[in-house]
Amino acid sequence: MKLPKNLRSGFMREDVENYLHELLPARDKVVSEMEEYAAQHNVPIIGPAVARLLALLVQISGAKRIFELGSAIGYSTVWLARAAGAKAKVTYTDGDVEKARRAKEYFQRAGVAKRIEVRIGDAMALLKRAPGTFDLIFNDVDKHQYPAALRVALPKLQRGGLLVTDNTIWAGKAARPAAPEDHDTQGVQEFNRMVYASKDLYPVLIPLRDGVTVCQKL
Ligand SMILES: C[S@@+](CC[C@H](N)C(=O)[O-])C[C@H]1O[C@@H](n2cnc3c(N)ncnc32)[C@H](O)[C@@H]1O
Repeated sequence: MKLPKNLRSGFMREDVENYLHELLPARDKVVSEMEEYAAQHNVPIIGPAVARLLALLVQISGAKRIFELGSAIGYSTVWLARAAGAKAKVTYTDGDVEKARRAKEYFQRAGVAKRIEVRIGDAMALLKRAPGTFDLIFNDVDKHQYPAALRVALPKLQRGGLLVTDNTIWAGKAARPAAPEDHDTQGVQEFNRMVYASKDLYPVLIPLRDGVTVCQKL
């Protein structure tokens, strides 16, 4: 099966990337449909390889209170909600009303609507206003906002909790000098520097797909 363009890393050898993708078990009808919709409309979802990592992190940490920054059509949200179980509360956030409408339909069909709260607006403002702290925060907003997302997420994360951030290799651009007008690459680079310099976090950047950074709050 050819890996669709919206799931390519941009830095990994094509044969290796195809191999990693081909190993993955088939997804159910709703999740497969979401993947097809994302491929056709070039929606930048995390894809099944990173989704499995997210689900594994939820399963081994037992996270129940989960907040997502940047949820689009709800692909990553469905994986988080399924892994966290019936007693979990997952907060979906996105600034795009149409994507949120589509996401809600998928949540119903995937059988996880009851454990997901859909919030429309600026993801960071919504997280700041959310009561209490979270066991896991998944960050996938526009990349120039990553340093701001980190500043907002840190105080909202439970001690021992996980901050998971997608696209931290950013098609390889994170490893090269960024052009002055490339604020997304600069945002990713600054985020990577910040987490590794932080005394409050234990980060690991995993070069899976476009790079995923998993940080535990100390
Ligand atoms: C990469 S997509 C999210 C994909 C999703 N996490 C998944 O894997 O299925 C990024 C989304 O974040 C939203 N977004 C970006 N910046 C945002 C912000 N500050 N507040 C709310 N939504 C934002 C965009 O509208 C877009 O739908």
